[in-house]
Amino acid sequence: MGDLLKIKGGKPLQGQIKAGGAKNAMTKLLVASLLSDKKCTFYNVPNIGDVEITVNLCREIGSEINWDKKNHTLDIVTHELKTSYVPQRYSGSNRIPILMIGALMGRTDEDIIVPTLGGDMLGSRPVDLHIHALQKLGAKIEYRDMKKEGAYLAHAHHGLKGAVLSLNYPSVGATENTILAAVRAKGTTLIKNAAIEPEIIDLILFLQKLGANIMVDVDRTICIQHADQFHEVEHTIMTDRNEVASYAMCALSTKGRVFIEGAEHLQMIAFLNKIREIGGGFKIKQNGIEFFYDGKLKGGVHIETDVHPGFMTDWQQPFAVLLTQANGTSVIHETVYENRFGYASTLKEMGADIELFTQCLGGKSCRFASGDHHHSLVVKGPSTLHGKEITIPDLRAGFAYVMAALLAPEISTISNVEYLDRGYEDLVGKLIALGADITRVSQPKKHIDKTKNAIQNLLTIDKTLASV
Ligand code: EPU
Repeated sequence: MGDLLKIKGGKPLQGQIKAGGAKNAMTKLLVASLLSDKKCTFYNVPNIGDVEITVNLCREIGSEINWDKKNHTLDIVTHELKTSYVPQRYSGSNRIPILMIGALMGRTDEDIIVPTLGGDMLGSRPVDLHIHALQKLGAKIEYRDMKKEGAYLAHAHHGLKGAVLSLNYPSVGATENTILAAVRAKGTTLIKNAAIEPEIIDLILFLQKLGANIMVDVDRTICIQHADQFHEVEHTIMTDRNEVASYAMCALSTKGRVFIEGAEHLQMIAFLNKIREIGGGFKIKQNGIEFFYDGKLKGGVHIETDVHPGFMTDWQQPFAVLLTQANGTSVIHETVYENRFGYASTLKEMGADIELFTQCLGGKSCRFASGDHHHSLVVKGPSTLHGKEITIPDLRAGFAYVMAALLAPEISTISNVEYLDRGYEDLVGKLIALGADITRVSQPKKHIDKTKNAIQNLLTIDKTLASV
C-alpha cells in the first residue's frame, strides 16, 4: 500500500513557492544525451519520480550519472553502451522507453529492444506515428508478442538516412523520437506537421549545444541536419509550465494569492488568457508570476485543449476544478486525448456539477467526433465541494483531486500518491508553505512481490529473445 495524503481544505493559499524544472523536458534530455559520449551537465533538474525512472533506465544502458538532488544538478556521460535492451520492468513506468529507439539507433548496430509503453492511461496511446517516422529514416522495427507482454525490436544495420516525412498528427513523442534519430541519420530530415511544444524547443536547444543543426519553421516544419561532431553541454532545464499552472489554479480557486518564482510568461500565454477571461488576477514580475483572487470568478468560458500554442491538455483537469468555483456554465473540449475526463465522476461525488458528452462541444470538430469517447465536459459553478476518500488514477487527475480537496472543508484522504511524486517535487512541502492543511502518511511498502515479478518478467523476455 502506498502513502496517503490527508487534506483539510477551505483555507486560501498564500505565499511564495519556486517552480521546478519541467518533467517533460528533463526526461527527454537525459535520453538525448545518449546520442553522444560527451558529458552533459543539467541545472534546475526536478527531483521527481519520472526523472528517477529515466536515470535508472539510462544507467541500465551504460550511463554514468551524478545527481545532486539538493542542488538540482545532474551530469551524465555514456562512454559506451552496455546494452541496447531496455528491460521489461520499465514497461508501464512512463513514456520514455520508446524514445530509446531514436536515441540509440545512430549509436549502435545492435538490435534495440524496448518494452511496450507506459504512462497514464488517457486513451489507447498508440505509437504508430513514432514507428512510421523512424521507418521513413530507414529503421526496421517490429512488434513481437512475448509471453507476458510485447516489445519493439528495432535496428538500422545499414544506418539511417535523412528523409522528408509528415506526421498525421503533431505528436510530441513522435516528433522527439524522430528528431533524435535524425541527428545521426545521414543527410537532412524534414519533419512536417511536427509538434512545437516548448519542451521540444528545449530539446532542440540542448541538441544544438551538443552539435546538431536544427531549424524550426513557422509552419511546424523541423529541419535536422546530420551531425557527427559532438560537444560537452551545460543546460538549464526550462520551468515546468504544468507545475506553474497547477499552483496558480490552487491560488485562484481558494481565493488566495501565490507568487510562483521561475514561472515563464512565454510558456503560459494560452493559460493566462483563460485566467483573465474568468476574472482571475495575475501579475507578471521580473522573476515569476503572481496569481491572485480578484473578486468573483466568471464561468461561461469555452476551453479547447490543443497542441502548442493551444491550451494544454495537462491544464484541463485542474481547470475543471477551478471552474466549479466560477459563476456560470463552462465547456471543456478535450481534443488531444480521447479519454482524459476519468476524474469527473469523483469530482461529481465531491459535489461538482459536471456532465460529460461524446460530442465535440463548441469550437471545432476534432479527431474524436465520430467515436463514443466522453471528450467534452460541461461544468456549472459555483459548487461547494466536500471531502472524500479518493484514489488517484493518473498524474494530472491526481493534482485535480488535491485541488478539490483543498476546497473542501472536510478531511479528504487521497491514495496512490506515487502518481503525484512522478511529476510534482515536494508537493506537500510547497502546499504547507502556502498555508495548506496537508499531511503525508507513510504506509508500509510491499517491495518483495514487485521485485519478484520484475525479475520474472526479465527472465521471460530474455529467454524469448534468445530464441528469436
Ligand atoms: N498519438 C498517436 N500515435 C502516436 C503518438 C501519439 O495516435 O504514435 C496520439 C496519442 O494517442 C494522443 C495524441 O496523439 O491522443 C497526443 O500524444 P503525444 O504523442 O503528443 O503525447 P505524448 O508524447 O505521449 C506528451 C506528454 C504528456 C502531454 C502530451 C501532450 C511526456 C512524457 N508526456 O505525451 O504529458 O499530455 O505530450 O502535450 O512528454 C503529463 O505530463 O501528465 C502528460 C501526460
